[in-house]
Amino acid sequence: MGVLINGKELAKKLRLNLKEKIEEEGLKPKLAVILLGNDEASKLYVKIKSKACNEVGVEFEEFNLSEDATENELLELIEKLNNDKSINGILVQYPFPKQIRLRKVAEQIAPEKDVDGFNPYNVGKLISGYDTFIPCTPYGIMKMFEEYKIDVEGKKAVIIGRSNIVGKPMASCLLNANATVTICHSKTKNIKDELLQADIIIAACGKKHFVKSDMVKEGAVIIDVGTNVDENGKVCGDVDFENVKDKASFITPSPGGVGPMTVAMLINNVVKACEEQANKAI
Ligand code: GUN
Repeated sequence: MGVLINGKELAKKLRLNLKEKIEEEGLKPKLAVILLGNDEASKLYVKIKSKACNEVGVEFEEFNLSEDATENELLELIEKLNNDKSINGILVQYPFPKQIRLRKVAEQIAPEKDVDGFNPYNVGKLISGYDTFIPCTPYGIMKMFEEYKIDVEGKKAVIIGRSNIVGKPMASCLLNANATVTICHSKTKNIKDELLQADIIIAACGKKHFVKSDMVKEGAVIIDVGTNVDENGKVCGDVDFENVKDKASFITPSPGGVGPMTVAMLINNVVKACEEQANKAI
């Protein structure tokens, strides 16, 4: 079996570093999280984020809107938080009820408080290779590469999934790091042929065990972004881990891989926002 990338441990180390930084520099970072409706998975993610923030010393304030809240109600709340100087970062937990458009939400969050990195201004900065808020999941994956000394330069990376939250920003991150990048999606012909050429596979399609061992080149790096629930109610990834692990040079588990890194990078982004806003105020 290849090296198991322990996202849980790495995220713990990063959170500890952030805690030390907050204490040493006397920072008072604060994150506002908006949760719409009663989606159980979203509630759980918000709880995990809240716990991680509390442990590290990031103040966390949760705002709950009902399942049938209007888009305007949400946009007004975001505007209020944009203007609240005590709040450094704003996150609206995704997915949203159908009346709420991600594009509208992303545009409304002030770029300097956009710790998810979804505002088009920040997306443009990322694509252009400027310093900005990098969306937390791709950022966490790049951090894993850095920590495990996986050099992506010149490598062929294939991403499965083209979402604005993972697939597209992941492509920008890898391109900025000089990888050769392919994005596959539901309309791609012959995904297997694409994957068989990949030195690095990022699976973010939301389909349990989608990546099988006959789709993977010997020695590939396998990153699993998926969190699905299997027939027995157990969380599983987009990769058929048990059968792929022996072919991989590095592989993330799911759960315990990318998920905890996403939370650690969110805190990283809140601290970055806090520092930048403090510098601007001087
Ligand atoms: N839902 C799943 N991942 C994310 C994320 O990175 N940010 C937000 N806001 N919602 C999500």
